[in-house]
Amino acid sequence: MPASRIETERLLIRRFSKKDTGALNDAIRVSLPDLNEWLPWARTNYQSGDASAFIRDSVQAWKEERAWDYTIRHQDDPDRHLGNISMWTVSKLGKIAEIGYWVRSDETSKGICTEAADAILGQAFGNLGFHKVIMRIAVGNNASTRVAEKLGFTKEGTLREELLIRGNWVDHTLWSLLDREFHTLHRGHIRSKG
Ligand SMILES: CC(C)(COP(=O)(O)OP(=O)(O)OC[C@H]1O[C@@H](n2cnc3c(N)ncnc32)[C@H](O)[C@@H]1OP(=O)(O)O)[C@@H](O)C(=O)NCCC(=O)NCCS
Repeated sequence: MPASRIETERLLIRRFSKKDTGALNDAIRVSLPDLNEWLPWARTNYQSGDASAFIRDSVQAWKEERAWDYTIRHQDDPDRHLGNISMWTVSKLGKIAEIGYWVRSDETSKGICTEAADAILGQAFGNLGFHKVIMRIAVGNNASTRVAEKLGFTKEGTLREELLIRGNWVDHTLWSLLDREFHTLHRGHIRSKG
């Protein structure tokens, strides 16, 4: 099982509970124009009932060890939801997981997604023992592409018409990071910090 609560330099990343519905709904509502551009679930008529349904499913998925969703918070403002970071199994046999994320619009470009994703990768390649983590990113989603690059992911290729977003089938690029690459990057990171 991954850790249910992780602290990074600035962030507190923890699993959801029912009490998070209001904070999640607030963050989604202020970010809808940006989320709606890339994420099919972020419909313009998103309601608080959708947020509570998401949390119900998230709690269940965690129990079934099917997927792990986390709420991202600032350590010094823990009541405010900054975004989601999620991880789920793609192949048990191949030890492959996928991650997905979003950050509220008034907190983007501050390194929050990269910091949170790096912490989740530590769980994927640590406790959970995955060999490979993938991400699918819509062609044209330059902010998310930059996150993949900063995390050290390699672009494998393009998946044709992978997701239906606002009525259009959108090509996605497939990115991946292997366990040995993550560990090498981290050794380098620790060395460069020291
Ligand atoms: C993608 C997303 C999660 C990034 O979150 P974030 O916390 O801003 O990410 P970070 O700050 O760690 O990194 C973002 C990087 O992209 C860069 N960036 C932001 N907007 C960009 C754009 N339009 N074009 C190119 N680069 C961009 C930032 O400058 C930063 O790079 P830098 O550190 O080299 O300056 C956020 O923009 C988001 O939620 N978008 C909408 C939902 C979404 O696309 N989710 C991902 C689906 S795959």
